[in-house]
Amino acid sequence: MNVHESEKLAGVLESKGYSVATSVEEADVIVFNTCAIRESAEQKIMGNIGALKSMKARHKDKIIAICGCMSQEEGMPEKLKAKFPFIDIIFGTLNIEDFAELLDKRVKEKKSIIQIASKSNIKKRDSMHVYRTSGVNAWVNIMYGCNNFCTYCIVPYVRGREISRDIEVIVKEVAELVGLGYKQITLLGQNVNSYGNDIDDPSVNFANLLRRIDAIDGQFWVRFMSSHPKDISHEVIDVIANSKHICHGLHLPVQSGSNEILRKMNRHYTREKYFSIIDYARKKIPDIEFTTDIIVGFPGETKQDYNDTLDLVQKVGYQNIFAFMYSRRTGTVADKMSDQIPINIKRKRIKKLLDLERDIASDISEKYVGKVLKVLVEDVSPKAEGVMIGSLNSGKAVSFYGDKSLQGRFVDIKITKSKLTTLFGELDKK
Ligand code: 5AD
Ligand code: SF4
Repeated sequence: MNVHESEKLAGVLESKGYSVATSVEEADVIVFNTCAIRESAEQKIMGNIGALKSMKARHKDKIIAICGCMSQEEGMPEKLKAKFPFIDIIFGTLNIEDFAELLDKRVKEKKSIIQIASKSNIKKRDSMHVYRTSGVNAWVNIMYGCNNFCTYCIVPYVRGREISRDIEVIVKEVAELVGLGYKQITLLGQNVNSYGNDIDDPSVNFANLLRRIDAIDGQFWVRFMSSHPKDISHEVIDVIANSKHICHGLHLPVQSGSNEILRKMNRHYTREKYFSIIDYARKKIPDIEFTTDIIVGFPGETKQDYNDTLDLVQKVGYQNIFAFMYSRRTGTVADKMSDQIPINIKRKRIKKLLDLERDIASDISEKYVGKVLKVLVEDVSPKAEGVMIGSLNSGKAVSFYGDKSLQGRFVDIKITKSKLTTLFGELDKK
């Protein structure tokens, strides 16, 4: 989401004739698209903004803009302005579409601006030019905001309530991207399964959106994130099973394997319900692989709760997990819970979880060795000369010796080796 919003901000700058600078010193405009999901993200941003102080003192015309989730937090714009008076523009996630006007105003009036909206204008956002930076990948928002209020999460406070984009606009955008040669389209929403809930027409829902997108001609893959286990329906799984383009890799954030913690997180499902979704999906889509998000050290998480998470991870057998230590976010319900877990316990828990996952992911990787599989070639490897990287339909990364000209192509790769979570292969010469 953040990467794609940065592409929209860069699109505004490109439309105004700016081009990408090679260094911060050289840049006329510096935009920080901030994240607020965990405290560590905020600390990093604070450090990075602070580092510009002396440069801004030397180059007063350089424009520094701050946007994103952190600037939408209550009281944060004022706090930022007080800490860093040299900031020129502060705007929020809800008015990203105003960036062009704010920039013009700042250039003309030479005065700093804080403008945080409480409501978005998504029609205006639809017409923003996007400066796409992700090679063969294109990101497409299908909705903005979140209605779920998981008790640990700041997102509903900084991104507001769910707003779905018009289905025709989305389908047209995806068709255009496919026409332009993008090979992997990722549909984005905080909870894509509630797409259309805010639109009166009941036929506008996620399953139908996937059907419409799947009917587009061309050679391309479709992914989406994230799905909330409380909302994913059998119908959506059936659509994936019967589709041509929708990938068999499902990101299904579980957050915890303990029913008590899931209840305290306000997640509205149990581990039993979660297992039933996994079972249904595996029955309908035998080669499906799962990834997930997990939080360790949520307030009150006992050893038993944590062991339930390890047990769930073991039973599901995830291809990959994104594990986080619970981070207190001001204004959320969990921040006020009394039984906060000490950092040393969180560290131990995340380490053990990641160690377990490494073994599971290695076993899953092993299964691929010897098989010939379709790979989308994404990029040159940043690690070794003459090596390309791509992904399997399940989303798993594969490296192989190959030429840069293969970028953006679907090729058959024979998997020859697996090392921990990474697969290696060679072009299949049959
Ligand atoms: N602390 C730690 N992790 C969090 N996430 C969201 N809020 C927090 C928090 N306060 C994680 C969740 C979510 C992912 C995007 O970030 O696992 O799925
Ligand atoms: Fe946060 Fe929960 Fe919404 Fe995801 S569904 S963005 S975790 S509140």
